Amino acid sequence: MPTLMFNMFATHQPRFMVVLFLSIEIITLRCSSTTQELHAGFSATPESSTASFQAVLSDPSGNFSLGFLRMNRNQLALAILHVASSEPFWVANPTRAASWSDTTRLFFNGSLVLSDSETRVWWSTATNGDRAVLLNTSNLQVQAQGSPLWESFDFPTNTIVQGQNFTSKMSLLSSNGLYSLRLGSDFMGLYEENKDLYWKRTVLETKAEVQEGKGPIYARVNAEGYLGMYQTNDEKPADVQKFNSFQQAVTAASFLFVRMEPDGNLKGYYWDGSNWLTNYQAISETCELPRSCGSYGLCTPGVSGCSCLDNQTRFEAGGCFNDVGGELCGEEGIGGRESGYRVLRRTGVEPPHKELLSHVTTSSLAECEEVCEKNCSCWGALYNNGTGFCYMLDSPIGSMLGTGDATKVGYFKVKKGGGENKRVWVRVAVVITVLVVVGIIVVGTGLCVRRWKRRRGVKEEDWASPGPYKNLGSASFRSIEMSSR
Ligand SMILES: *[C@@H]1O[C@H](CO)[C@@H](O)[C@H](O)[C@H]1NC(C)=O
Ligand SMILES: *[C@@H]1O[C@H](CO)[C@@H](O)[C@H](O)[C@H]1NC(C)=O
Ligand SMILES: *[C@@H]1O[C@H](CO)[C@@H](O)[C@H](O)[C@H]1NC(C)=O
Ligand SMILES: *[C@@H]1O[C@H](CO)[C@@H](O)[C@H](O)[C@H]1NC(C)=O
Ligand SMILES: *[C@@H]1O[C@H](CO)[C@@H](O)[C@H](O)[C@H]1NC(C)=O
Ligand SMILES: *[C@@H]1O[C@H](CO)[C@@H](O)[C@H](O)[C@H]1NC(C)=O
Ligand SMILES: *[C@@H]1O[C@H](CO)[C@@H](O)[C@H](O)[C@H]1NC(C)=O
Repeated sequence: MPTLMFNMFATHQPRFMVVLFLSIEIITLRCSSTTQELHAGFSATPESSTASFQAVLSDPSGNFSLGFLRMNRNQLALAILHVASSEPFWVANPTRAASWSDTTRLFFNGSLVLSDSETRVWWSTATNGDRAVLLNTSNLQVQAQGSPLWESFDFPTNTIVQGQNFTSKMSLLSSNGLYSLRLGSDFMGLYEENKDLYWKRTVLETKAEVQEGKGPIYARVNAEGYLGMYQTNDEKPADVQKFNSFQQAVTAASFLFVRMEPDGNLKGYYWDGSNWLTNYQAISETCELPRSCGSYGLCTPGVSGCSCLDNQTRFEAGGCFNDVGGELCGEEGIGGRESGYRVLRRTGVEPPHKELLSHVTTSSLAECEEVCEKNCSCWGALYNNGTGFCYMLDSPIGSMLGTGDATKVGYFKVKKGGGENKRVWVRVAVVITVLVVVGIIVVGTGLCVRRWKRRRGVKEEDWASPGPYKNLGSASFRSIEMSSR
């Protein structure tokens, strides 16, 4: 709204600007003084003029705001934002966005409800409270007589902020839905597609042993600059992952949060009063990220970056083959004679996070490959000739680590049909089509010329001798051959 008004008045006299500033100030003042609590009867609707965020509730410090966040032009998420940076900390309905239209409504009737017209409820706290407030921690609460019935801290999306308790019943899910953070009995782990563990932090035994009977562990970002794991009723953390700001003076201006990022990393951020600084990374090596180079990619630490496990395929963003997912089991040919995959081998590779993979010990590479070949849930096997360890991959192949160590060999199954890089075939098809079309034109032109010459009584030998047409024809063939290389 203010920006619109600026546009309208910008070309007029300064007088208007003063009036404008005053009115904006009045609007802001009124908003911040009236929207710190929501009571029964409250209702708000998104305005079509809102560019990105429309606040409906603020915390007492004014640092955080609950409101309508515009996404993908006309979708709406009910979100809690850090006002100074517009960074969303929490979203009410991460999987089902409402639409940005005047039929969408947020109201409070004991529950905080986001609904479309009167009928469709997008999201609700399902409570019977007397007010909704946003605390200065960024926690949204529905309260009855001052005690919380529901709080947003219990339903984190991809972020936990300082002071927020993260329990084993919760998970942080990256915005693309691929990666999650969860707690185990004595560790926290990062998972791909909710099942494959690719990073693990176990409670350090030296600090304090996880004791049975003391209940499950929980995690919390401590304002003093660490991500701690605690056991119920213990004030001291059983494990500490230090941030860069560890033991820096905690000021009223500073703030910390941890987020599950769409690349599979877990990162910590520090608010220095004007910017968010990266403060912590669970995974510091890019090649250790689960899909650092996409499917069937090869990540070599250092300068060389990404390439493909198949040395015949050029690396392109998004991976080295298309359509690599799905199942291998049950896709064998009739009678089991023809397999549904082809085999790709590469030396000098090993799996990232091999310490989290199951392995068997075999006496040879052939034996290791055989174990995988016979098991249709196995997508690949990596053999270490030095130790005899044979690592099994039981989900579609992501990125492997390039080691340059020839005693480490990888065996990978590539699903047939769609497994090839389609772009190569598209290129081949285009070149063939061009050749055929040019051929037709050349032959057609030749026939026409022959007929035309015959009609004019020109002798056959004249046409057959080297002439401009023939030269043109062979020259264009040559140039096409060259461009197809
Ligand atoms: C609040 O509104 C929702 C949606 O219309 C409804 O399902 C719920 O019963 C209402 N709650 C109360 C306490 O009236
Ligand atoms: C947040 O509110 C609590 C009381 O509710 C107060 O003690 C604390 O100082 C406030 N923190 C900030 C940063 O304003
Ligand atoms: C987190 O858990 C601790 C210990 O149970 C508790 O004292 C604290 O109030 C909790 N914090 C929040 C924000 O719920
Ligand atoms: C909260 O507001 C105070 C006072 O304006 C400011 O110093 C501080 O940096 C803010 N904190 C955050 C996390 O924005
Ligand atoms: C590509 O891989 C094949 C099979 O592993 C190998 O024989 C060949 O030498 C490799 N080519 C290059 C250029 O590395
Ligand atoms: C096949 O591999 C899967 C995953 O690696 C494993 O759980 C299963 O036990 C294997 N089956 C056999 C028969 O070895
Ligand atoms: C693997 O190890 C065996 C014996 O330890 C050795 O004979 C063989 O040459 C090694 N193969 C490779 C590829 O390093």
